[in-house]
Amino acid sequence: MGKAFRSGIPSAEITPKEAYLNRRQLMTGMGALAAAGAAGPALAKLTTVPSKYSTDMKPNSLEDITHYNNFYEFGLQKTDPAAYAGKLTVDPWSVEIGGLVDKPGTYALDDILKGVTLEERVYRFRCVEAWSMVIPWDGFPLSTLLDRVGVQPGAKYIAFQTVLRPSEMPGQRSGLLDWPYVEGLRMDEAMHPLTILATGLYGEPMPKQNGAPIRLVVPWKYGFKSIKSIVKITAVADQPPTTWNLQAPKEYGFYSNVNPHVDHPRWSQASERRIGGGLFAPRVDTLMFNGYGDEVASLYAGMDLRKDF
Ligand code: MTE
Repeated sequence: MGKAFRSGIPSAEITPKEAYLNRRQLMTGMGALAAAGAAGPALAKLTTVPSKYSTDMKPNSLEDITHYNNFYEFGLQKTDPAAYAGKLTVDPWSVEIGGLVDKPGTYALDDILKGVTLEERVYRFRCVEAWSMVIPWDGFPLSTLLDRVGVQPGAKYIAFQTVLRPSEMPGQRSGLLDWPYVEGLRMDEAMHPLTILATGLYGEPMPKQNGAPIRLVVPWKYGFKSIKSIVKITAVADQPPTTWNLQAPKEYGFYSNVNPHVDHPRWSQASERRIGGGLFAPRVDTLMFNGYGDEVASLYAGMDLRKDF
C-alpha cells in the first residue's frame, strides 16, 4: 500500500454424505468440461474472453505480476509473497459453500472447475486490476458458481474467507491482522459478470503469491477486496465483516469502490502510477470505478458514495 500507487493495502477432509450428494448434483447437467483438468492446452485454443469487458491495454509482465504483491499471510513487503508462498499446499483444495444456498457442501476445486462450461470460462481476461496493474486472468464469473448452488432469496451478501494455515503462512503466526482474511460483496456485486473467481493468469495455473488456487477479482474495487486462496463462500442475509474494515474502519469501508473523489484519510486517491512503469512513469488521473463506470455505476444509483465508501 502506498501513496505512489492506487491503494491496495494493504479440506480435502471428510466429506459428509449430504455434501457428496450435492456435489454430484452440482455437476449434473452442467456440461462438464470434456476432459477433466483441461485447463491448459485445450483452453489455450479458445478465445472465450468476454471482450465486452476486457481492456486492450498492454498487460504487465509476469515478473511484475508475481513480484509486487500484497498477501499479508506471507509478510508485509511486496516481495514477501514471492519469497515465502512456495510452502503453501494448493492441491488438493476444496471450498466450503454454505449459508443460504440450496446445495451447501464442501466441494473439491476440481469438481467446481469441471462444472464450468467452456463458454462460461474467461480466458486471459485482461482487466485493469485496481492497484494498479493490467492482468490477464483466467477463471469464471462468480455468478456461475452461485447459480449452481442456488442462492436463496433471503441471501443479500456473499462472504469469503481465506485459508487459515499458520504452519504454511508465516504472517498468520503474527498478530498483524485478525486471521483468517475475510471479505464480502453485496449480492448484485457478486452476480455482476465482471466479478470473477480467477484460477490462473497468462494461461498458467494461479501463482501462489497471487492467491492460488482460487481468488476473487473485482476490477472496479480497490485491490484489497480481491481475496486470495479462498476456502469458504457463504451466502448471508447481513453485511459480513471485512478484514480491512475491521482493521481500520475510518479508512476502509465495506464498498471500497475506486473513487478518486473520496480521499483516503492519509492520502489523495485522485491519481495513480501504474506498477511496473518505473518511478518516473507519469501519474495518471484515477477513473471512477477504475474505468468500469458504464458497467457498474448503476449498482450504486442513489447511494452517497462519500458515506458508503
Ligand atoms: N487476500 C489475502 N488473503 N490476504 C491479503 O493480504 N491482499 C489484498 C488482496 N487479497 C490480500 C488478499 C490486497 S491489499 C491486494 S492489493 C491484492 O490482493 C493484491 O493482489 P495481487 O498481489 O495478485 O496483485
